[in-house]
Amino acid sequence: MSQPNEGQNRLDYQETADITEVHASILREHAEPIADSMPIPTWLGVLCAGVLCWAGVYIGVFHGGFSSKIYNEYESGPAAFFPIPGGQQKGGGETPELPLLAYGEKVYGNRCVACHQASGLGGNGVPPLDGSEWVDGAEYGEKRIVALILKGLQGPVSVKGATYNGLMPNWDGLKDREIAGVITYIRQAWGNKGTGEFTEAQVKAAKKEFMSQAAAWKVEQIKNIPIDAKLDGGSPAKADAPKDAAPAAGAPKADTAKDAETAPSAGSYNLSASIAAGKTVYLQSCMACHQATGMGVPGAFPPLGGTEYVNGDQRRLVAIVLKGIQGAIKVNGTVYATGMPNPELTFPILKDDKNVADVLNYVRNNFTNKNDAPITPEFVGKVRKEFADHAAQWTEQELLNFPPAK
Ligand code: HEC
Ligand code: HEC
Repeated sequence: MSQPNEGQNRLDYQETADITEVHASILREHAEPIADSMPIPTWLGVLCAGVLCWAGVYIGVFHGGFSSKIYNEYESGPAAFFPIPGGQQKGGGETPELPLLAYGEKVYGNRCVACHQASGLGGNGVPPLDGSEWVDGAEYGEKRIVALILKGLQGPVSVKGATYNGLMPNWDGLKDREIAGVITYIRQAWGNKGTGEFTEAQVKAAKKEFMSQAAAWKVEQIKNIPIDAKLDGGSPAKADAPKDAAPAAGAPKADTAKDAETAPSAGSYNLSASIAAGKTVYLQSCMACHQATGMGVPGAFPPLGGTEYVNGDQRRLVAIVLKGIQGAIKVNGTVYATGMPNPELTFPILKDDKNVADVLNYVRNNFTNKNDAPITPEFVGKVRKEFADHAAQWTEQELLNFPPAK
């Protein structure tokens, strides 16, 4: 029969001599795939997070207001992306050698774009500059435009058929070249067809001429500046208007302007003009609480009609508007305890004595009140000085025992 060890012998014969070689080939095989999710490697996670952070920071720093204008050859320097907050552009640096137009575009991007928009179309209650008659049209005058931008504008103004009633801040803290540049720019930007450059000398002349104008203009005051009035320092071709005629006709002086809205002399105080001007100030700084009717809101805001505080001592009334009131106070028999925050801190227009005088003359001659004796800006200035050190809001006690002027 068969030999007892035959099979064994054959096996032995075919078996690989080295067992580790057999295992090595098994080890070379891939592991069986697992039907389960596996976390990405830590290093990849860290890398992704790093890239995302960097991208966020990059966009945050260099977004340039997402304005299409920011990435041009003049503005690729860091200064375009790191505007000095709130301050003047530093005199030196890369800006001054920019051509005036490009410089003006940059000023526009820093100062005006937030309200008037990169498109120049405004919106949200801000009028457009693109196609505006004041910038490049029937209402444009070189003296008008610079006056308007230097001192700001308040009250209703009609632009391209729509009426706006806001407040344009003043810009007389900007350098002459910044104003000249921004005017040059807005006159030519978008669809506007203005030509030439507005000069620094013109801005300087305007700053001097309108030095005494503290408040933002009303549009009537701007209209009182003749369209063809010239400023010293314009291009020679334009300087043909008689020099001496221009300032007299151009400056909306208190005594010549028909509504006499700039500080009048005490002797000939134009009360009705002040009352008219005061309405705008009232709408901006008192109406929210005391209401358009002047009747207040029961339980919250006292009326201004027929009250002792409004119709009584002028000095105390001015002091109220300059400092506010705290705690409970009885007005026309009813107690109010809401407190009146210092209006001047909320509404910077009240830092201007004329605006305070105007709003009070308005209040004292509306809502059934009638007071012929005007409150003048000079008087407001005196009271302001007297209480310059008085930081707190008044209490009712203090108002009832209001000390007479020293
Ligand atoms: C805080 C918002 C704001 C900023 C910033 C601002 N404006 Fe205005 N601007 C206004 C408002 C509001 C009016 C309309 C005022 C009114 O109703 O009396 C206006 C009106 C104007 C007007 C006259 C009306 C018109 O549309 O033509 C011109 C010109 C103007 N601005 C130019 C500028 C320039 C130039 C700058 C930058 C230096 C600037 N503004 C910055 C809000 C702003
Ligand atoms: C934020 C709301 C608010 C604003 C804005 C405001 N007031 Fe008042 N005012 C009050 C409240 C509330 C009182 C009552 C004081 C209290 O509760 O202590 C008051 C009291 C007064 C008083 C004395 C009481 C009276 O009714 O005669 C006068 C005067 C006055 N305000 C005038 C003004 C004028 C003018 C302005 C605008 C320049 C103005 N207020 C803006 C809330 C306001």
